[in-house]
Amino acid sequence: MGNFRLGFIGAGFIARFQTKALQSVRGVELAGVYALKGAGELSSLSKRLGVGECKVYKSIKDLCENVDAVAIFAPNFARLEIMQKIADAVKAGAKIKGIICEKPLGRTVKEAMELVSIAKSTKLPTAYFENQLHMKAIRGQKSQLASVEEVMGPIALARSSEEHSGPHEGWFWDPTRQGGGVLCDMGCHSIACCWYVLTPQGKPVNYLKPISVSAEVGLLKWGLPRWRKELLKRTGVDYGKTPGEDFATGIVTFQNPKTGQIVKGQFTNSWMYDKQGLRLMMDGLGPGYAFEFNSQMSSLQVFIGDSAAEAVADAESALEKSTASRGLLIVEPNEPDLYGYVDEICDAVNSFQKGKDAFLNFEYGLEITKLCQAAYMSAEQKRVIDLTDKNTQKELENYVSLIAQGKGREVLQIIE
Ligand SMILES: NC(=O)c1ccc[n+]([C@@H]2O[C@H](COP(=O)([O-])OP(=O)(O)OC[C@H]3O[C@@H](n4cnc5c(N)ncnc54)[C@H](O)[C@@H]3O)[C@@H](O)[C@H]2O)c1
Repeated sequence: MGNFRLGFIGAGFIARFQTKALQSVRGVELAGVYALKGAGELSSLSKRLGVGECKVYKSIKDLCENVDAVAIFAPNFARLEIMQKIADAVKAGAKIKGIICEKPLGRTVKEAMELVSIAKSTKLPTAYFENQLHMKAIRGQKSQLASVEEVMGPIALARSSEEHSGPHEGWFWDPTRQGGGVLCDMGCHSIACCWYVLTPQGKPVNYLKPISVSAEVGLLKWGLPRWRKELLKRTGVDYGKTPGEDFATGIVTFQNPKTGQIVKGQFTNSWMYDKQGLRLMMDGLGPGYAFEFNSQMSSLQVFIGDSAAEAVADAESALEKSTASRGLLIVEPNEPDLYGYVDEICDAVNSFQKGKDAFLNFEYGLEITKLCQAAYMSAEQKRVIDLTDKNTQKELENYVSLIAQGKGREVLQIIE
């Protein structure tokens, strides 16, 4: 049987990361790419790593006609337009077996609902890429604690955080294009992770019912004059006019539909974590047992003294979003595997080959978008959002946060 032929739409940061992940995946090749910028460079990377010929295509239609599945790795603001082109290509005869979309599925609930609806019109299986649920550490604690959970009961409190010093591209910082600040960008990971950690063993990912969300957002670093100026110079985004949040935290409360038990997931995200680089922290507390994960507890560290710093290699090859190139540094030798990218590709391809949705489908992505938007609503309206209320659900469908509307000044502090 030949390799499964993947096609990427977008050739930026995540496309490069996923290309590296393919080095650890059997039976799958990167067959093609379509992107506004960077397609040639991605193709060269793919060939250099030996993961596929990665032909550059001039349109989404051409790409879809030459691969087995496509992955949307383009910015959030381009989702709908790209999804529609994929659907048009399928309706015109392209024989793909599935569609992958990176997080977040939508910038608003309405947008995510449209994505789901267009995907449904193709009748194709989908994969929502939320890598953290595929992390070997998160799966590892599940299997290690399965028998303990059976005797003692499920985890009742999960905490999940993802933090770094801020995104690499300007569009992430622009709330009107990205959909918000760090909550839209990374809160989706941490909320999903909490939900999964709390889910009783063997139950579907949406088994626990989300019943309420309470959250706060803040602009703790990038609203200050010095950092605003730096951001404007670096990205062209003016946080004095259209700020996004660089900090978000909150609690999602879930209920077990069978036992009625209430469990809680606490998420924290920031773009002001000025330590070595990206840090993921997760823990889960059950009665009499617990797990804890910290992605910066690597077994490999290197030390680079001042006298050697001039000869330093690219710090980001050691750790995503690294902020330092000297001193005692953390090295994660296989980040695509650590963060779950390898396993999410394997899952999507295996599922598509069987004609099925991946472990996480677009409908699941829509549920995560709802929880993120409920968190914005809670922070904005300073109240707990009751998700069991039908009117609130309806309100969420048309909700666009003030921050995403470019009116962040109404809810975030800007020091003049
Ligand atoms: N799972 C994760 O941890 C993770 C990490 C980073 C990014 N992401 C997600 O991946 C997506 C892409 O992020 P990124 O960091 O790679 O962005 P990026 O800006 O680095 O790259 C975006 C790529 O998409 C291309 N592009 C832009 N508009 C396009 C269009 N209309 N059609 C085709 N190509 C287009 C650009 O030319 C570029 O090649 C985002 O949705 C982001 O949220 C996920």
